[in-house]
Amino acid sequence: PASHSDAFVFFGATGDLAYKQIFPALQALIRRGHPDIPIIGVARANLSLDQFRARARDSVEQHGGLDPAAFAKLAAQLQYISGDYGSEATYIQLRHTLGGAARPLHYLAIPPGMFATVVDGLARSGCARDARVIVEKPFGRDLASAQALDRTLHQSFPESAIFRIDHYLGKEPVENLLYFRFANAFLEPVWNGDYVASVQITMAERIGVTGRGQFYEEVGAIRDVVQNHMLQVMALLTMEAPTGGPPALHDKKLDVVRSMRPLIPAELVRGQFEGYRDEAGVAPDSQVETFAALRLHIDTPRWAGVPFYVRTGKRLPVTTTEVIVKLRRPPHPVFDETGAVPLNYFRFRLSPDVLLSLGASVKKPGEAMIGEPVELIARRHTGDDMMPYERLLGDALRGDALLFASDECVEAAWRVVEPVLGNVTPVSGYRPDSWGPAAARQIVADEDGWHNPVTQEATE
Ligand code: BG6
Repeated sequence: PASHSDAFVFFGATGDLAYKQIFPALQALIRRGHPDIPIIGVARANLSLDQFRARARDSVEQHGGLDPAAFAKLAAQLQYISGDYGSEATYIQLRHTLGGAARPLHYLAIPPGMFATVVDGLARSGCARDARVIVEKPFGRDLASAQALDRTLHQSFPESAIFRIDHYLGKEPVENLLYFRFANAFLEPVWNGDYVASVQITMAERIGVTGRGQFYEEVGAIRDVVQNHMLQVMALLTMEAPTGGPPALHDKKLDVVRSMRPLIPAELVRGQFEGYRDEAGVAPDSQVETFAALRLHIDTPRWAGVPFYVRTGKRLPVTTTEVIVKLRRPPHPVFDETGAVPLNYFRFRLSPDVLLSLGASVKKPGEAMIGEPVELIARRHTGDDMMPYERLLGDALRGDALLFASDECVEAAWRVVEPVLGNVTPVSGYRPDSWGPAAARQIVADEDGWHNPVTQEATE
């Protein structure tokens, strides 16, 4: 079994990611009784330890709530190093602050452009030895830059010590996709192209780019969420059964991502919400997509002939991520309903609430043998779920790689989206609070339209 990290170091300690995610996750881990280890923040800002603690306190108050007892422990474990990432002195100080810790976990919560500098500094000062490292997306901006990033990391860390966060994998209902599929006997016989007609995955967000215009200009929806979150969800839905622990899960997931056919422009519609170009940091003639609708195919015996539709966008009518797996019609009509029988489907709502349902048909009371649709619903409140970052940081500290993305899988996902990166198709405008450009309908021309998830917040 892997040993527990004996110190936690995070670069970018005064940044946004630390503020929104890392401090709250650390407080939550401590509340769950995680071991006492030094927690060392590194950043350029010239803060005193007290100022750094005050920032940590603000962070937990804003994001998740202050737990006085857990926070007091966190504050006592915190240390702060102010230094330039390019300067040797920073790493010498880090080595000194680590004291007797021999297996630190380093979290690079900094822009990827600085990874090489920090990895190099860690290696030269001896801080990388027996250490683990966490990195966040974006993992490059295309296949070549992702490979370059992996080479940089591999210079100082073996792949087994690298933990790449895709926070979707830390979501309880996303993990449940895998569990539900393989823990239930009734599913496996129908989970293939003989029974499944199509799959739709929608990740909709009401928010726009909220001050992140400059960042978003470099990314767009395909790089921001399709290459990672959407393809990961699709992989969990479609992979073969893993048997025997984390390596098997990674192998099977990699197999299916490698079997996804590279996208083509004819199976993509890009959209941009009206008003995007007025955001700070956005070019007045920007062609960057804030919406993408795509059709994908998986070239395996299990999924031959099954279209996968993925749609994501900002400024859509609701915030939700939902998967709908539609089954084929019964092969022979028993009742005289002239095709009106609703299709069976499985619906997985992954956020904001957790819902799993099976769409079925039951007889409508009356003289005729005519059905009506019902949904058999399992709903669960998410209040007790661990936050994704809490889960993922805890796993990385323990050295459990199950929920992290491997170099090969990230690169395979880039191969899928690479042919549609950039301005390969024109970008169509859409009204905020609509379901994207009308042209998106052509992607689902063989279906009866997109499935528009309605959330409770929208119906109330
Ligand atoms: C991030 C994207 O990875 O995921 C954001 O960069 C997006 O643009 C976010 O808003 C959505 O995550 P969640 O957990 O709120 O669904």
